[in-house]
Amino acid sequence: MAGNKSPKTIATINFKGGVGKTTVTWCLADTLATYSNASVLMFDLDAQMSLTQAVGLNEDSGSLHAAFGSWYDKSVSDRRTIFDAIDQYTKPGAHFDFPIAYDFIYQITKGLHFVPSVEDLYWLELEVFDRDQMKDFMRRLLGKIHHSSKVTDYDYVLFDCPPSFTLLSYSVLSCCDLVLIPVNPDFFASRGVSLLLNSLKMRIEPHPTPQIAVFMNKTKTWANSPTKETTFYMRQIQQICDRATKDHGIRAKFFDDAWVRERVGIKRAITGGGVPADLVADFQTLWSACLGVIK
Ligand SMILES: Nc1ncnc2c1ncn2[C@@H]1O[C@H](COP(=O)(O)OP(=O)(O)O)[C@@H](O)[C@H]1O
Ligand SMILES: [Mg+2]
Repeated sequence: MAGNKSPKTIATINFKGGVGKTTVTWCLADTLATYSNASVLMFDLDAQMSLTQAVGLNEDSGSLHAAFGSWYDKSVSDRRTIFDAIDQYTKPGAHFDFPIAYDFIYQITKGLHFVPSVEDLYWLELEVFDRDQMKDFMRRLLGKIHHSSKVTDYDYVLFDCPPSFTLLSYSVLSCCDLVLIPVNPDFFASRGVSLLLNSLKMRIEPHPTPQIAVFMNKTKTWANSPTKETTFYMRQIQQICDRATKDHGIRAKFFDDAWVRERVGIKRAITGGGVPADLVADFQTLWSACLGVIK
């Protein structure tokens, strides 16, 4: 239990789709909740709703699918979604009055709770929201969650972010402890990381800068180690992180030893309930590396 301590917050970000943001967010959250007894809150902030759909499809606990479906419909019709929270927060002159209870947060398991996405988030960017006002939205929302007596105290909050800087991810960036960037072992990864670090620098400059960590997901392995080719890409990305840290004053660390292997069937980790046994160690290592930089 977190007690009075604010939870540690981690946002999984990359402009590229398909690198594993959603999968990694889920697997990290699940590993944490299952193996460390921590209470974890996970947000789906992507209007494409992959994580939300995966939770709805979860086939492990039979009734969960139906349970989540009807909970979700009620949350939408009672106007208790993240979009409604934003709507309330941005109402001109209004006090941010959005009660936090389990009609806003869904309990997947005892230790793993979830704030789903809604399609309305697509329209968020078209509304005339004040950027400076939106910047504080997530910090204020987390404050409300922290102080609500209706929900548990969370030790960790994980955000699955969209592959672009939306107003919502902007507000996450200004209150998260760690920006976690999954990359894949391919030719485009280093260019992508360069771009992302550059724009993160511009976006978060006026705020206390969060720690940034980059790691290799879908690592190709041979005899339980990254292949030569993957190692080559890892070195490239490490250099980019080192250079950004040296030249641009951001704190970007490449996790040398905390990679997640390519694993056929990892999708079932989300829709089938748990992280496959042979991947648990990878996510535990990744988690230790994350804690190492945000302690
Ligand atoms: N470590 C991995 N090994 C194999 N496949 C993976 C791994 N991580 C993610 N994937 C697969 O890659 C695809 C994209 O993953 P996803 O998490 O949806 O990416 P994103 O959220 O960045 O768009 C999915 O089919 C997912 O199952
Ligand atoms: Mg995704």
